[in-house]
Amino acid sequence: MKALILAGGTGSRMRPITHTAAKQLVPVANKPILFYAIESLVAAGATEIGMIVGETHREIRDAVGDGSRFGATVTYLPQDRPRGLAHAVLISREFLGEDDFVMYLGDNVLTGGITDVVRGFREERPDAGILLTKVTDPSAFGVVETDAEGRVVRLEEKPARPRSDLALVGVYLFTPAIHEAVRAVAPSARGEMEITDAIQWLVDHGYAVRPTVVTGYWKDTGNVTDMLEVNRSLLETLVPEVLGTVDEASELVGRVRIEAGARVERSRIVGPVVVGARTVVVDSYIGPSTSVADDCRITGSELEFSIVLNRSRIEGVGRIEASLIGRDARVRRAEHIPRAHRLVLGDHSSVHITD
Ligand code: DAU
Repeated sequence: MKALILAGGTGSRMRPITHTAAKQLVPVANKPILFYAIESLVAAGATEIGMIVGETHREIRDAVGDGSRFGATVTYLPQDRPRGLAHAVLISREFLGEDDFVMYLGDNVLTGGITDVVRGFREERPDAGILLTKVTDPSAFGVVETDAEGRVVRLEEKPARPRSDLALVGVYLFTPAIHEAVRAVAPSARGEMEITDAIQWLVDHGYAVRPTVVTGYWKDTGNVTDMLEVNRSLLETLVPEVLGTVDEASELVGRVRIEAGARVERSRIVGPVVVGARTVVVDSYIGPSTSVADDCRITGSELEFSIVLNRSRIEGVGRIEASLIGRDARVRRAEHIPRAHRLVLGDHSSVHITD
């Protein structure tokens, strides 16, 4: 079983995380979301991976390399423009050969992994397998209508009037039957060759398309609440380990990971928490469901249920909760009067002030 990861598309600055142009590299629990896709595929036994790349190919290649550190081999498959998910399959024909494959959209996270669905697919081997999840805003997704027996009847890409609340999750299981289907689809109204149309073609031509409803699905949308939630969920699987140094006056409780070169002094950390490489935590409290990335400095502060990205500094501030702090940010106590809030906020920022 091979794998095809879609990490192409045009580089769009993610709000509010503006560092990376490749949305697949946005970090959650201190790891790019694309890495979860690779790890899930490897865990499911699909180690031969084709990686569709576009405009942001350099960033993706720098991050993933040849795949060996994931226990995979990665073949890069350049796509000239984001011409659609079915187009990605079309240009991967040679790489895929006559193998079955898992197609995984690189901006999707399935917190429970895909091992069980891949096993189920291998055992029953329908012509295609799709994953579905209930969503509150189906018109932002591919939407699937099933009949009374749960069979797939109709698939529609981002319909204005969705016929169900079952959205297509960005993981698909295919046999070579999909190759004829992708050749048959024409570009949609948005100018893309839709995989949704190719799967509809399979349904219309009597092929077996097996749906599986899953939970624990997340797609990068730039929505902070969702991002904190998926961070929380992924931290549950964190491997606790202390690679940096923790002094005697500090206490680590529960699932805590301290990366190499990090230093914790006179602090209390209650997991699940990850503290990135070379980050310094002094006289502080870090509470559950928090990810602090590399090269940060947290001193005299309290932080909980939050994400802090690389090189940021939080100094002498009471308590920060449910927050997303980007790269190279600085949050510190106002030392002089007037004790006013002084803010330098980037575009699309959002701040809640309590006093
Ligand atoms: O996330 C699930 C949804 O993904 C499904 O519900 C939809 O049916 C499906 O069409 C897809 O919708 P999106 O419009 O959200 O897909 P997006 O354009 O965000 O692309 C998904 C990933 O695939 C993303 O990592 C970029 C990559 N991509 C996309 C296109 C169109 C490519 O590599 N090449 C492409 O041509």
